[in-house]
Amino acid sequence: MLIRVLLRLVHHGDLLGIAGRYQPGAALPKEGVRVGFEGYGIVERAGDEVALKSGARVAFFPGKGAWSEKVIVSAEYVTEIPDNVSDEAAAQLHVNPLTAALLLRAVEASGAEPGRDVVVLTAAGSAVARLVIGLLLDRGFDVVGVIRRETGVNELNVVFPDLPVVSTDKPGWQGRVISAADGHPIGVVLDPVGGETASAAVGLLAQSGSLVSYGDLSGQPISVPALYFSTRDIRISGVTVGRWAGLPVEVRKADLQLELELAASKPDLFQVEKIFDLADVGEAAALVEKPGKSGTVLVASP
Ligand SMILES: NC(=O)c1ccc[n+]([C@@H]2O[C@H](COP(=O)([O-])OP(=O)(O)OC[C@H]3O[C@@H](n4cnc5c(N)ncnc54)[C@H](OP(=O)(O)O)[C@@H]3O)[C@@H](O)[C@H]2O)c1
Repeated sequence: MLIRVLLRLVHHGDLLGIAGRYQPGAALPKEGVRVGFEGYGIVERAGDEVALKSGARVAFFPGKGAWSEKVIVSAEYVTEIPDNVSDEAAAQLHVNPLTAALLLRAVEASGAEPGRDVVVLTAAGSAVARLVIGLLLDRGFDVVGVIRRETGVNELNVVFPDLPVVSTDKPGWQGRVISAADGHPIGVVLDPVGGETASAAVGLLAQSGSLVSYGDLSGQPISVPALYFSTRDIRISGVTVGRWAGLPVEVRKADLQLELELAASKPDLFQVEKIFDLADVGEAAALVEKPGKSGTVLVASP
């Protein structure tokens, strides 16, 4: 299916790909990188056997080259966008919300139970974390958010007024997370930061607790005392949306239904920081890595 791309999100993962950090030894692939896995646009041409026709509003994932003006994507990975979902939310429909769905499944698979276990999220103000927090709270989980700037506490409490939020820029933050858990075991930490933050967060986990890693914002390794594994049976695992396309079709359909409902009913979880012109994609990429954003960075075609 040929799609004219109107909007695409700049992901941290796009920047990791451009930097060659997904490859061993940080080597760039010889053939170069066609950047952008997801986008929103209009169908320009579809095969005879495809239900979607020219002019349909669609979002796609996984595709290759979403930072281009046009892409060819297999119809299997194209989602029609209903009228109650905005263009901006449609451009964010796949990678972040599907990662949130994978993280929710990881929490459920860990054995954590709503009402008993607390889930801690680091980088809790991120676009992905806000979606996960929304899903976890809807399912009755107690959640504690960890962020790196005290000024971000109020920003996150605008979206989730009752969420306990702890900032790591003041000493003793681990103690404040434990206080916020209010005597409940911390069953899961969801972490895209790594480094010192994740290493300290592992120390907060209860017996048989899990740290689920899904990013590398600090660029630093996670360091964990060996005894945590033998004496406390701590687990460390990870999720990537890169494996989502390989899931059974029924699971993918259910995930997409959930994402469309979320985009229609909770547009505040799809907040946009700024929309750049395609010619200024470099500036867009720079903004993605700047501290203090409260929404995603989109790039629009002329
Ligand atoms: N596994 C997957 O398949 C998958 C899919 C999508 C995204 N991700 C990952 O999920 C993470 C979040 O992505 P996003 O697009 O939601 O991010 P985002 O909206 O750009 O937000 C990034 C957040 O991380 C915080 N942050 C940045 N660097 C940090 C550091 N060194 N230490 C502590 N906090 C830091 C920022 O805090 P400030 O507010 O202070 O700037 C901000 O709240 C990224 O690591 C991304 O690669 C993974």
